[in-house]
Amino acid sequence: MAKGLDVGTMNILSAKQEGTDTVFVQQRNSFVEIEYSDMAEQMLSRSDVLHIRKDDDVYVLGDDALNFANIFNRETRRPMSQGILSSDEKSAIPMMKLIIEQVVGSPDRPDEKLYFSSPADPIDSDLSTLYHQKTIESFLNDMGYDAEPINEGMSVIYSELADNDFTGLGISFGAGMTNVCLAYYAVPVMKFSVARGGDWIDEQAAQATGTQVDKVTSIKEDGFELDFTTDVGGVEGALSIYYENLLDYVIEKIRKEVDEEDIEEGLDVPVVVTGGTSSPNGFSKLFEQHLEDADIPFSISDVRHAEEPMYSVSRGALVAGRSEEEDQDRDTAGSASEDDESESEPDEEIEAASDD
Ligand SMILES: Nc1ncnc2c1ncn2[C@@H]1O[C@H](COP(=O)(O)OP(=O)(O)OP(=O)(O)O)[C@@H](O)[C@H]1O
Ligand SMILES: [Mg+2]
Repeated sequence: MAKGLDVGTMNILSAKQEGTDTVFVQQRNSFVEIEYSDMAEQMLSRSDVLHIRKDDDVYVLGDDALNFANIFNRETRRPMSQGILSSDEKSAIPMMKLIIEQVVGSPDRPDEKLYFSSPADPIDSDLSTLYHQKTIESFLNDMGYDAEPINEGMSVIYSELADNDFTGLGISFGAGMTNVCLAYYAVPVMKFSVARGGDWIDEQAAQATGTQVDKVTSIKEDGFELDFTTDVGGVEGALSIYYENLLDYVIEKIRKEVDEEDIEEGLDVPVVVTGGTSSPNGFSKLFEQHLEDADIPFSISDVRHAEEPMYSVSRGALVAGRSEEEDQDRDTAGSASEDDESESEPDEEIEAASDD
C-alpha cells in the first residue's frame, strides 16, 4: 500500500488507506526547547509526548509544543517558513525529521511508494524549493520508502477533482504559501506558488493593530468569519482586510500567469479552494466574488470549497501513490502473461485509485 504526506509550513499530515477508510495522522510543524531535568525527562518518557533530549535541553515537538511553550513561557519555533525549510532555524532538519517519522511511521514493506507534497517555486520571491525538496526526499528514502515529490496544487486536483476528470484549477491556501495548479486531464498546464498565506495575514494584522502574532492567529482560528460585520479597528477587522488583500493578490497572479502561459481561451473549468487558510466561513464566497470581478481569460464553471480543507493535500498525494502502485502491479501482471501493450491513460488509473 502507498502513503501520502503533506509537508506544510504549519502542519504535517500523512494519509493511508485502511479498507474503505482513509486514515490521517497530523502534527503541528513546530517545537519548543525546555531545560533538561531528570524529573522532566522521566515525566516525558512515561507520556506519549514527542520529544528528544540534546545535551542540556529537551525538545518537545508537534502538537504538544504549544502547550509546553505556554507552561514554560517559551516561544515555539518552526522548522519551515514560506513553504520550505527555514534557513533561519538551525535545528530545522533534525526536528522535521522526527516529526515526519512520527507522522508517517515505518514503511509497510520495503520501498513502499510515498508521494510527499512540495510547493511550486514562488513567482514573487527568490526562494528555491529544490534544497527543501531534496532534503525531505532523502529523509524518506533513508526510512525505507520509495519517495517522490508531488506538486501541492496537483495534489489538490487529485483529491478534489476526480469527478471532473482531474481537470480544473486547484488552489491550496496554506500557512506559508498559496499554491496554484491548473490541470487538464491530470496533466498540469500551469503551476506556481506565491510566498503568502495565513502567516502573512497574521503578521500584517498583528502589525496593524499592535497585537502579538500568536494572539492574532488564535483569534483567526477560533471562529473568525469573513462576513464583514465586525467592527473596524479590531483584530477581526484587520484580518478581513488582509484576507481580501491576499485573495486579490492571488487572483491577480493567476490572471498574469494565465496570460503568459497562453492558456486556451475556450477552457471552462471548476476551481477548488482548500488549505487551512480557506477555513473561515465566507471564504469561498468572497473568493468567488473577487474572481468574478477579475479579468481571467478563461471561464470558471463553479467555485468549490473542499469539504476537509486540512486533508486535501495528503489525500491527493495518497491517490497519486496508489495509482502508481496499481500501475506497477498491472505492468508486472501484464509482462508475465502478455507482450508489451501500450500503456493505458493515466487519468483512468487515477480514477480507479480514488474510487472508494
Ligand atoms: N479555522 C481556521 N480559520 C482560519 N485559519 C485557519 C484555521 N485553521 C487553520 N488555519 C490557518 O491555516 C494555515 C495552515 O493551513 P495548512 O495546514 O493548509 O498550511 P500548511 O500546509 O502547513 O502550509 P503551506 O502549504 O503554506 O506550507 C495557518 O495559517 C492557520 O492559522
Ligand atoms: Mg500546504
